[in-house]
Amino acid sequence: MSALNFSARLINWQGQHGRHDLPWQKTRDAYRIWLAEIMLQQTQVSTVIPYYTRFLERFPTVDALAQAPVDAVLELWAGLGYYARARNLHRCAQVIVADYAGQFPKEPQALAQLPGIGRSTAAAISAFAFGQRAAILDGNVKRVLARCFGIEGFPGSAQTEKKMWSLAESLLPARRIEVYTQGLMDLGSTLCARRKPFCAACPMYAICIARHTGRQAELPMVKAKRVLPERETTLLLLTDGKRVLLERRPPAGIWGGLLTLPECGLAGPAEFALHHGCRLLDTHALPPLRHSFTHFRLTIQTLLCQVEVSASLVSEAGWQWLERAQIETAALPTPIRFLLREMAQDYGEK
Ligand code: ADE
Repeated sequence: MSALNFSARLINWQGQHGRHDLPWQKTRDAYRIWLAEIMLQQTQVSTVIPYYTRFLERFPTVDALAQAPVDAVLELWAGLGYYARARNLHRCAQVIVADYAGQFPKEPQALAQLPGIGRSTAAAISAFAFGQRAAILDGNVKRVLARCFGIEGFPGSAQTEKKMWSLAESLLPARRIEVYTQGLMDLGSTLCARRKPFCAACPMYAICIARHTGRQAELPMVKAKRVLPERETTLLLLTDGKRVLLERRPPAGIWGGLLTLPECGLAGPAEFALHHGCRLLDTHALPPLRHSFTHFRLTIQTLLCQVEVSASLVSEAGWQWLERAQIETAALPTPIRFLLREMAQDYGEK
């Protein structure tokens, strides 16, 4: 798809359906535009508007802002959040007065050197205030580009972000950069919503790759989940039909201090049963369970062992025969409680 096609569609759409009455759209004053872009970095339009108005009443020029004590700036910022923005704003105003004679530079590269102004904000200021052809790329724009051009990869990764910057620059129109830039912002924050985008009304309907392939929900891609190592264990569920033998885990480590089914050692279930004063009658494997821990995923194989408990059963330290009625209240790990519940139900039905 050609860049011309994308920018022409966006510019047309912005003219007809975009936002035109935002307080910072009625000016070419770089100070007013800069202030709006900083406030809008992490805050939505409806929240920003009253702050913006109050701020400009109190500090109508960059000089007024630079001369104010930082506390007065923070006071007016209170409630907007991300207060580093207010401190940077104040410092930036002082740099503009001291080093630039009170005039914001036109070039995005120069703007991006100033406190609190990143590459995308610099581009927005230079486009809106000075008509400079510079590409913006915030979270909303990344979503529009990822969908429209079918860009794979997590936009937060350096590699994908680099691709997106190149794409964003290649799309810039020769003329009407202000309308184009505002159009990108408007599209990203209205129609091209993260969830349930309004594709039917979108100017990119005919050309959007995500729309064509039904991948709106998949693009932009989310951060790849870490692949956890897999472990497997076999647990023994020794039961005489009424009670289950449980072991208390050592205090440290997974399931620390909880009651759990014992692991099947090398000796096997018959030896194990004997060791605990039981005779093994029958075994059968239960369906495996999967459980995720922070650092690994565990497949739990469970061997159900029917046993006959010898009359002279003594309870050993760290071991407990749990009655069915205790399953819901005992200190059990979730997957083990789940297993015991299933088993109790099976027995209940018999
Ligand atoms: N978000 C960031 N900059 C904006 C602007 N100029 N108008 C609307 N929303 C924005």
